[in-house]
Amino acid sequence: MSARLLVFDSGIGGLSVLREIRRQLPSADITYVADDAAFPYGDWEAGPLSDHIVALMGRLIERFGPDAVVIACNTASTLVLPPLRALHAIPFIGTVPAIKPAAERSGSHVVGVLATPGTMKRDYTRDLIRSFARDCHVRLVGSSELAPLAEAAMRGDPVDDAALRTEIEPAFIEVEGRRTDTIVLACTHYPFLIDRMEAVAPWPVTWIDPAEAIARRVLSVLSLTAEPPGAPMAEGQAFLTSGKAWAPAQLRLLSQFGLTGAILD
Ligand code: DGL
Repeated sequence: MSARLLVFDSGIGGLSVLREIRRQLPSADITYVADDAAFPYGDWEAGPLSDHIVALMGRLIERFGPDAVVIACNTASTLVLPPLRALHAIPFIGTVPAIKPAAERSGSHVVGVLATPGTMKRDYTRDLIRSFARDCHVRLVGSSELAPLAEAAMRGDPVDDAALRTEIEPAFIEVEGRRTDTIVLACTHYPFLIDRMEAVAPWPVTWIDPAEAIARRVLSVLSLTAEPPGAPMAEGQAFLTSGKAWAPAQLRLLSQFGLTGAILD
């Protein structure tokens, strides 16, 4: 029996995590849910967002009966993993800012973190910095614009390079002659903008995307081993919580990951 996974985000960002899960476990029976009705999560206050996700997740678990849930969203994971784990017996695999690997890789010890305003404010994120990046200068940047820009790009709408540069530039700093050399993509939407970010970045840096590590964690939590490259990909379905239909460009993106767009009733 293949593993039944529910992969969840506020939008298309979680597909950057799903891509890695598919690479390692193509046979997984995956349902993807984008909570577009509440997008973007980044601007919500913590309390109402937590209540909203906990209630929605209860309905989704009842409806889809997954073996495990992947919260492919930093803004949600840095907030709701404890209440979800307290309420449900199935495993929850979260996505949290990859501050530890970034601090380990940085040669200059100047690290940027690109996140949503919600993730930026969380105690969880501040604790990660205190625990794992004590010897680094960390510039935490919370952007309300980047996730919507990624959504626009994935719908096939034009994205303005100047707007993108304005959002990422604050993560590029110089401290006592040392410059940012590593940037954490602490929102699952951002890997979909990586080519454009590299093109407009003030200077080259190493970008840290935790998706592969999260996929490995999914396998280890479910006691599974990676399937050989080229193993057949199972068909899955993707839903929008608004009940709307997916746009054509989004459907093309979904199909790359073996997903068809479906309507949530
Ligand atoms: N993809 C989400 C994350 O990883 C957030 C996007 C949003 O809804 O603001 O944080």
